[in-house]
This record gives sequence, structure tokens and C-alpha cells, in this order.
Amino acid sequence: MGEILKIDNISVSYGSIRALTDISMSIDEGAVVSLIGANGAGKSTLLKAIVGQEPLKSGSITFAGETICQTKHHHGGLTTDLIARRGIALVPEGRHVFADMTVEENLDMGAFMVRDQALINKRKEEMYDFFPILGARKKQKTRSLSGGEQQMMAIARALMSAPRLLLLDEPGLGLAPLVVQDIFNKIKIINEENKVTVFLVEQNARLALRSSSYGYVLENGKIVLEDKGEALLLNEKVQKAYLGA
Ligand SMILES: Nc1ncnc2c1ncn2[C@@H]1O[C@H](COP(=O)(O)OP(=O)(O)O)[C@@H](O)[C@H]1O
Ligand SMILES: [Mg+2]
Repeated sequence: MGEILKIDNISVSYGSIRALTDISMSIDEGAVVSLIGANGAGKSTLLKAIVGQEPLKSGSITFAGETICQTKHHHGGLTTDLIARRGIALVPEGRHVFADMTVEENLDMGAFMVRDQALINKRKEEMYDFFPILGARKKQKTRSLSGGEQQMMAIARALMSAPRLLLLDEPGLGLAPLVVQDIFNKIKIINEENKVTVFLVEQNARLALRSSSYGYVLENGKIVLEDKGEALLLNEKVQKAYLGA
């Protein structure tokens, strides 16, 4: 399958602080690709740049053949809302669920761009089948859910827009190992059965690389390594720095 996302030489700054420098990446349609890196490396910044939440200082991002992000000099690219409509959904770090809303209301928010109520209802039922715990709790306020359940809900909310590309920012953060494994099992099904391309950011490098066909290593805002997931798992530098070997 062909390339669905192309990141071409992008840089992002916060004021005078350079967060990303000359990042280039390619994600094939149907793949699971991971990005690993330490705290502060720039992982979240990269995902935010893809969905138009951080402006580019240089470079461009192309999705399904269309330029979605570029520098201000080149008129800036699409808004976050339009990028979502093109088929990219981000599950942000820390989930950002609406704690005072019910599970069902959160899922409705994820379908903001869908006009057809019957389609929204159908997708909600699919989500309740796929995440039975959400079905059992659909009328409950989100704050009553466990961390793992809230992460499942954040993923389900993102899927309500039927994205072609799902961006996940540290889905395992702060969760117990068994819960993390559960979430990764779901991600695998979303990719294999629903044919959603997945770009995954994780500090748990072992789990991320095992789940991915390809991976990138980010250090201080720069890509320092890229290879097949299984090759990165065997890479000495990756083992030392990220796998505790
Ligand atoms: N809103 C912001 N304003 C200023 N600096 C930021 C902001 N967000 C992130 N940074 C800085 O940019 C760098 C990359 O951050 P981030 O993308 O969150 O890294 P990661 O997700 O890999 O932990 C860090 O040095 C961080 O302090
Ligand atoms: Mg982050």
C-alpha cells in the first residue's frame, strides 16, 4: 500500500525554543508506526503539528496526497477542524476526556463532523460492542471511570469520526501493565480489522516497537534512528537507551 502521511523536513518552535528540527517521516497506509523518545524529546509536539495545533517554522505535511500543514509563508495549511474532517484523529496525551459528561456524550463529541444521527448511533453501538465496559457505563459520568476505561473511551471517541489515520499519544501512560496490554490489543484490532493506519507515541518502547512494523527514535527534537520495529528492538543503542538492556 502507498504512503498516507508524509512529513517533509518540518521544524516547530515555542518562541525561541526549538522543539522539532528538520523532521522527515513517511507512514504507509495500513501500517502501525511508532515514535519513541524520552520525556521532552518532542513527541507530543510532532503529533500536534500533524493535526494543525502547532504551526510549522519550516517544511510541510501531506496526507493522502494533499498538503495539510505548511508554514505561514505558504498560507499555513488547513485548520485543525478541516484536518480532522480529512480523516486524522488524535487521542491526546492525558486523554483530555470531558469528565463531567457521560461516556455517551463524549462519544457524541467525537462525531461532531457527522451529520447523520443514524450513523452516529450505529458507530456508538459498534464502540459499545468493541469496548463492552463503555457500553455498560454509557450513562455514567466519565470521571467515575478508571484510568484505563477513560483511555478506552478517548480511543472510542477518536474512532467515532471513522479516521483513516489514528494518532495515539502515550496511550499507556500511568496505567497498570495488564491494562496497557489490553489497550495495545485493541489498537492491533483497530489496525488489522478496521484498516486504520496507526501512528503511536510511547515511552514504553518495547511494547510500541513490538506492535509496529516501523519505528522512529526522536532525541531532542531530531530523528536519530529509523528502521523496522523488529530491527530497532535489536538495535544496541535502542536497547541501552530505551529498553533498559
Ligand atoms: N506549550 C509549550 N510552550 C513552550 N515549550 C513547550 C510547550 N510544549 C512543549 N514544550 C517544550 O518542547 C519540548 C518538547 O515537548 P513535548 O513535545 O511535550 O515532548 P514529549 O511529548 O516528547 O515529552 C520540551 O522541551 C517542552 O518543554
Ligand atoms: Mg508528550
